[in-house]
Amino acid sequence: MAFFKGNTIRAGVLLSFCLVGAAGAAEVNLYTTREPGLIRPLLDAYTAKSGVTVNTVFVEKGLAERVAAEGARSSADLLMTVDIGNLIDLVDRDLAQPVRSPALEAAVPAPLRDAGGRWFALSMRARVLYADKGLADLKAATYESLADPQWKGKVCLRSGQHPYNTALIAAFLVRHGAEKTESWLRGLKANLARKAAGGDRDVARDIAADLCEVGLGNSYYVGLMRSGRGGPDQKKWGEAIKVVLPTFEGGGTHVNVSGAVVAKAAPNRDEAVKLLEYLVSDEAQALYARTDYEYPVKAGAAIDPLLADLGTLTIDTTPLAEIARNRKAASLLVDKVGFDN
Ligand SMILES: [Fe+2]
Repeated sequence: MAFFKGNTIRAGVLLSFCLVGAAGAAEVNLYTTREPGLIRPLLDAYTAKSGVTVNTVFVEKGLAERVAAEGARSSADLLMTVDIGNLIDLVDRDLAQPVRSPALEAAVPAPLRDAGGRWFALSMRARVLYADKGLADLKAATYESLADPQWKGKVCLRSGQHPYNTALIAAFLVRHGAEKTESWLRGLKANLARKAAGGDRDVARDIAADLCEVGLGNSYYVGLMRSGRGGPDQKKWGEAIKVVLPTFEGGGTHVNVSGAVVAKAAPNRDEAVKLLEYLVSDEAQALYARTDYEYPVKAGAAIDPLLADLGTLTIDTTPLAEIARNRKAASLLVDKVGFDN
């Protein structure tokens, strides 16, 4: 029994679990693209509290395709994934159902959930500036300024077509329009020290190797590198850079999210909503966010010290749904300027 894996379970909780268990235990089926090992402690805590068994199905790729193929026979109750694009895809394929819940609406700020209750963000990752430690005066860094000629030959980035960058470019597009976005992309392309490729951690690696001076990466990689979880090389890269939270001019820092939807065909709909409500509780938010060095969506939930060190996050207020709608246009602009060539 997975339930006994936890080592912090108290006898009272155990007793109530057994009583519920004896009565024919409630269960909920979670399909997740997030590694089960990372979210298991959280789900075990939920089971200990509620007596509800959480069955997890790890779907590394093609979550929407799988649930669509299963159709009305699908046993999926709650679908968890990362990136606003993936959440919106689930909604667009009619695989999500609306949920009205005062607990969810109170915990998740409006820009971080669907107005119709069809998706809810559970954690955030910010697109932050990785920089050479020797650089001064980066406190007021903006995404716009990365296209300034002062950075010529000094910027490292992953592909413009990677969803992390496409979402950022889509946010730029919503804010500034197509013409300004195109010239920004051309400026950014002209500033690249190397081909736009690799991963976010390679940006830190290349700054450490003095190949470039600045670049963008997700905030959680800073935690993964600096904590040593990614191994000794990554720890060195994480410690070799300084990290600044850039903003849009007159705006905030671009964030993306992990989140969940209640499956349209959920056989245990009420249990799915209850699990979702648990995931936005103070306790779960702190635990969930910390498993991957992410920011909780709920105001006041504890954040990991490695993230707290980066400074106060001011979220850009461009609605995520609007960013998601502009991904295609952003991707076309990336091709148009030959960003990845
Ligand atoms: Fe990632």
